[in-house]
Amino acid sequence: MSLLTINKLTASVGAEVTDVDSEALAHDDALGGAILDALEDNGVLVFPRLGLTPEAQVAFCRRLGEIDHSSDGHHPVAGIYPVTLDKSKNSSAAYLRATFDWHIDGCTPTNDECPQKATVLSAKQVAETGGETEFANSYAAYEAFSDEEKERFGALRVVHSLEASQRRVNPDPSPELVAQWRSRPTHEHPLVWTHRSGRKSLVLGASADYVVGMDLEEGRALLAELLDRATEPHLVYRHRWSVGDTVIWDNNGVLHRAAPYDPDSPREMLRTTVLGDEPIQ
Ligand code: OGA
Ligand code: MN
Repeated sequence: MSLLTINKLTASVGAEVTDVDSEALAHDDALGGAILDALEDNGVLVFPRLGLTPEAQVAFCRRLGEIDHSSDGHHPVAGIYPVTLDKSKNSSAAYLRATFDWHIDGCTPTNDECPQKATVLSAKQVAETGGETEFANSYAAYEAFSDEEKERFGALRVVHSLEASQRRVNPDPSPELVAQWRSRPTHEHPLVWTHRSGRKSLVLGASADYVVGMDLEEGRALLAELLDRATEPHLVYRHRWSVGDTVIWDNNGVLHRAAPYDPDSPREMLRTTVLGDEPIQ
């Protein structure tokens, strides 16, 4: 029997978990495996008004895998990164405007790190309007292809860059900023990610710049069309935040984005990232 009570939120992505409290998440060893299984099945798990403390969030994430500490230093608790547009709460806030476009975290790493396995956000402060987080199932997006499309698109490779994702939200950058973006290496990934489990998902989103060997504009139009198909409203779960909510997503199998919110909004999410161990291949 599952340790968790799970209610699906949409047909293809997202489920609510209602019978665990923050104490259990932080301290119950058996929950880690059950949550990873539920995450694989549902893509996104929502824990409404859990009220997890930053310390308990980190303790919980340790049960799921190794925690990313590369962004430490913006919050007193190691393993916590504040996601906010308020520069007084996070000095790298300007980069976070790219969260407004559909993306998968970690497609353009500094070296060759695998994309993160899972990301946890807890709402400390929410936006008055906007600021929902949206999720789309990228396994389902692949499964929706015809056999002919599976074959054709399965052969494509895509170059991802930090510049591509930043340019979408900052189309007129200074030369210094462009140089900063370009100091991050670009990465070539297959369009279709074949996971160890045998499942296949699409690797799309803001960091996807162009299709290798295809006319630039034609390739970009194809990437935009595939992203539109993968994120049609009926395939999306949109989480409207209340303070204290915790949401975790399978970063290998879902695309996500933040709905726009006022740059002066106090919205602040506390984020912990679980490192991945599966290369995109
Ligand atoms: C992220 C992210 C979306 C949001 O933290 O990786 O994309 O709604 N956040 O803040
Ligand atoms: Mn993200």
